[in-house]
Amino acid sequence: MAAGAGAEGDPLVSDPLISDSMDKDLRLLFSKKEIAETVARLAREISADYADKKLVVVGVLKGAFVFLADLVRDLTIPAAIEFVRIASYGANKESCGKIQVKKDVEISLQGKDVLIVEDIVDTGLSLKFLIEHLCAHHPSSLKVCALVDKKARREVEVQVDYIGFAMADGFIVGYGIDFNEQYRALPEIFVVD
Ligand code: IMP
Ligand code: MG
Repeated sequence: MAAGAGAEGDPLVSDPLISDSMDKDLRLLFSKKEIAETVARLAREISADYADKKLVVVGVLKGAFVFLADLVRDLTIPAAIEFVRIASYGANKESCGKIQVKKDVEISLQGKDVLIVEDIVDTGLSLKFLIEHLCAHHPSSLKVCALVDKKARREVEVQVDYIGFAMADGFIVGYGIDFNEQYRALPEIFVVD
């Protein structure tokens, strides 16, 4: 797996403001228009499926923050918004399967219809951990919405109920998604070559 992937690590490890690596070759993958259309399509599906439910959207920090902000503004139903942050631990930056909760939800999820909003599902290890963690909060239902699904790279089986884009491989940045804490503010999604 490329550096920076997996549940997000210690934010103090790299400082984007003093990094000299803001010179990667970026290739446009998904334009603003494609992203907006995809987010609107997901919001329509979610709004239809969760009409008359007690929807709590749980965004996974940091990568999903831009996606979540756009998604919830396209919903036509009420939704509570929560965030979690998880991180891999261990010496190297690759997803090693040892994951911990750095920031938990702050309301009771019991009896609620919870939708996890993720940026990318790659090996599936982070999501599997998060599903098990949130299940312990006893929601009525628990589903997953991911902006990008890299299904071919899966190491553990996880169900992704709402998928924005499917992609085979490659490392992407932009629209909230980072490489060593850089590029999150780019409005489009790029492949790092
Ligand atoms: P997983 O546990 O291997 O499924 O890792 C998923 C997490 O790894 C995502 O939520 C991202 O934070 C990160 N990740 C996976 N692929 C990429 C990528 O292409 N660019 C940036 N981050 C990635
Ligand atoms: Mg993530």
